[in-house]
Amino acid sequence: MNNNHGANLYELSHNLGLNKTNIIDFSSNINPFGLSPKAIESLQKNIHLASIYPDPDYKELKKSISEYCHCFPKNIILGSGATELISATVKTVLPKTALLLTPAYSEYEKELNKINCNITKFYYKKENQFNIDILNLINTIEKNDFDLIVICNPNNPTGTLIPIGDIKIIEEKFKKTIMIDETYIEFTDFEKTSAISLAINNPNLIVIRGTSKFFATPGIRLGYAILAQGELFNKINRLPNLWNINIFASIMGESMFKDTEYINMCHLKFEENFNLLFLGLKKIENIKVYNSNSNFILCEITNPNFSVDNLYLSLYKKGIIIRKAESFEGLNNKFFRICVLTKEHIKILLNEINNFFK
Ligand SMILES: Cc1ncc(COP(=O)(O)O)c(C=O)c1O
Repeated sequence: MNNNHGANLYELSHNLGLNKTNIIDFSSNINPFGLSPKAIESLQKNIHLASIYPDPDYKELKKSISEYCHCFPKNIILGSGATELISATVKTVLPKTALLLTPAYSEYEKELNKINCNITKFYYKKENQFNIDILNLINTIEKNDFDLIVICNPNNPTGTLIPIGDIKIIEEKFKKTIMIDETYIEFTDFEKTSAISLAINNPNLIVIRGTSKFFATPGIRLGYAILAQGELFNKINRLPNLWNINIFASIMGESMFKDTEYINMCHLKFEENFNLLFLGLKKIENIKVYNSNSNFILCEITNPNFSVDNLYLSLYKKGIIIRKAESFEGLNNKFFRICVLTKEHIKILLNEINNFFK
């Protein structure tokens, strides 16, 4: 089983004999409140547009994203998910040396290894509750000559958020490329926490986002990067193939970024559900729960008599999937990650975890 990402629902449904939609997936970090109703309506009305090419300039889509992100369409590069843009950035910058905040989403290291980059890791440390020591980080940046810094903010899997004030300090000290993956930023107070306001004025700071998590659309593969016009922008913008965003992703994107009713509902419900999960987990003996600024929570089994493998297995048998976190460097086989789902599913999970430890 590929343990580097969340659940492979195709494989799991085969192994468990369950329909993909009946698996309770606490591992993929996807907003449980469904798709934007406006996006669904728009898709249904325009299904026949499969017979034409998408707009090669994606004017409407970029307009929609620019209003949502408070930037200009000229600051936007579209990609097939955040994943394509992470890869495109690494392939464009071709860093000889990179600083990677670790543990983090595995694709950064995978992409850097493809180009034989010399990677230095800077750790989110357990003894610091997985918060970043900014002075130490700046010291590391100043003492070395990195070509690229990679930051996931908030970070997967720790849920740590580097405050915008600290991102500004990093930006002031480091004049080469900074790539910030904000895939989970909408689960924070993102108008205040996002680095987009910096990126639109800095041609070396690239913010990457996707719609898979907050907008619950991993199937359409829609992502976007935001940065100021300049050499990096031009080089990355040259990479995607013509019409790389298919017309259905484009149609949904045009609507969902404007669906404020849906967006507000998600924020409101998310907070309630997060609290239910977080406080519920905190009450369970034998596990330590780390604070999170995202839609997932990192936990650690503290009792040596219990293992994550056994917990995973007991939940798996019931069609509930959590993310074992051992594959993340800096964590071990005592860690697991759980994302925020519906209240109904959270209650089922809490009940099952409680039973496991009894
Ligand atoms: C931090 C992070 N970035 C990017 C992705 C992938 O996003 P996308 O579906 O937009 O390619 C994930 C998926 O788990 C992720 O955790």
